[in-house]
Amino acid sequence: MKPAKAPVHLVAVALALSLLAGCYKPGDEPATGGAAGETGISAGESGQPTDQGEPGAEPGSQAPASGQLTIGMSQCNLGEPWRVQMNADVKAAAEKHADQLEVIFQDAQNDTLKQRAHVEEFVAAGVDLIVISPKEAAPLTEPVAKAMDAGIPVIVLDRAVLGDEYTCFIGADNVQIGHAAGKWIAGKLAGKGKVVELKGLMTSTPGQDRHSGFREAIEGTGIEVIFEADMKWLEPNARKEMESALARFDKIDAVYAHNDPGAHGAYLAAKAAGRQDEMLFVGIDALPQEGVAYVHNGILDATFQYPTGGAEAIDVALKILRGERVPKKITLGSRVFTADNVAEGGEKLKLEEAAKP
Ligand code: FRU
Repeated sequence: MKPAKAPVHLVAVALALSLLAGCYKPGDEPATGGAAGETGISAGESGQPTDQGEPGAEPGSQAPASGQLTIGMSQCNLGEPWRVQMNADVKAAAEKHADQLEVIFQDAQNDTLKQRAHVEEFVAAGVDLIVISPKEAAPLTEPVAKAMDAGIPVIVLDRAVLGDEYTCFIGADNVQIGHAAGKWIAGKLAGKGKVVELKGLMTSTPGQDRHSGFREAIEGTGIEVIFEADMKWLEPNARKEMESALARFDKIDAVYAHNDPGAHGAYLAAKAAGRQDEMLFVGIDALPQEGVAYVHNGILDATFQYPTGGAEAIDVALKILRGERVPKKITLGSRVFTADNVAEGGEKLKLEEAAKP
């Protein structure tokens, strides 16, 4: 850990000590989250960067010749399996460099103000680098920019912040994933049908992008969105919204949910109404133990993989800490899982074809 800046020295030391009380060193369990199970499709394996973006990010601080480097990992919530998997991926990757790195995990428990405070605490404690998976774009932009201003490199993971004051963004292309989901549904319904869209948190960039990509793909087709609601990524919300949709519409051909918990919530609502066979259920995430298992069991018709990027974040962090230049943006690949290909491990998404012409 580098020395804290003079004016906040004493505060920083106190904060550092309190943070380090919950500090994770590779080899331990994450301080704020349980480890997830094995992944058949880890981000490192299948989320190969497909677009290195523009080089030009400023190199971070030079790694000292000896001694541990501290990474502060700000996770927006650990209530969903996908985020538990992200932390597990970060932990597993950091463990390979246990001689150089320690990671402090903080879980904001889906509270934006708490997440802002975590970033500020990391800055005050003088960590060497911050990795953040922000709950929402706008409110986390300022603390990230302030960390950068304090000379601490920041890797933004999965959900973006506004502007470009960060060192590197890592994540899959949500517009293209949404587009591919739209194409898939339109294909399955032969270009005509009534769809319910259950959106992720619309103040977060994946929600916005999965929505716009989907709408682009169905534009000009006979696919009509008859009901849409923001279920904020949460299964119980999705179930409740779907109950309203089922009560209002006696014919629904497909549900497009921005994540697998949302698609599963919709399925449960439809099943409770005895209508689950009437429609397709499509989600995003494709965790082996969640979305892929749902496809395998016939609960979901398709899920699109959204790699966590946890392993890539540690690789990039090491480069930055060694003073190497890294791309401003790293785009991870995706796979689609359907009944036809789930046994073979899904199929790589051809993002070029899915992209807007
Ligand atoms: C978990 C989650 C995932 C989703 C991602 C988007 O919190 O909702 O299901 O793919 O966040 O950032």
